[in-house]
Amino acid sequence: MIGVLVSGNGSNLQALIDAGLPISGVAANRKDAFALQRAREAGIPVAVFGLDCHASREERDRMMATWLEEHGVEIVVLAGYMHLVTRPFLVRFPNRVVNVHPSLLPAFPGLHAIEQAIDAGVAETGVTVHLVDEGLDTGPVLRQEAVVVAPVETLEERIHAVEHRLLPEVVRSLINETATFATTTSKEIS
Ligand code: GAR
Repeated sequence: MIGVLVSGNGSNLQALIDAGLPISGVAANRKDAFALQRAREAGIPVAVFGLDCHASREERDRMMATWLEEHGVEIVVLAGYMHLVTRPFLVRFPNRVVNVHPSLLPAFPGLHAIEQAIDAGVAETGVTVHLVDEGLDTGPVLRQEAVVVAPVETLEERIHAVEHRLLPEVVRSLINETATFATTTSKEIS
């Protein structure tokens, strides 16, 4: 089962839903995230973990991890989740937290990556899906795809189209790998 963390529109969440991936919970850091509506419409349990309701970021992340575990989550996908995740969260899902980012990382991490690429005058940018560590859009790259910048008027739309194809593909292969690993391990034990 996968859990998805969101902060905003949730078009990447929608792509995961439309791909038929097994999503058992969606958590947001903002109660006004439109992504929550998409999840509710798909009948997926939702929860909001705003920073204002917790003593610290780490405490919030521990509670969020517990909620996801209670929903059977094994793989966590950050789909436009705009907070860093802290160590207490990452240790609960080792090598199983994935992020999608609209640039060819390590170029243009952080906010407004598409605008950063346009402002830098590069000919090519793209999409990265990577495993998450404690840094800002850092961690081992799982998949990247380049997108030419021109014409800039349609760049955002073309980047999103790539994200919506790449993210479900990568998540599906991670689910398959996790299932293969679980089957192999239980055979070895028995
Ligand atoms: C996406 O473009 C995603 O790659 C980006 O936020 C957007 C969310 O859109 N994420 C980052 O910039 C992470 N650093 P969505 O809410 O419609 O999926």
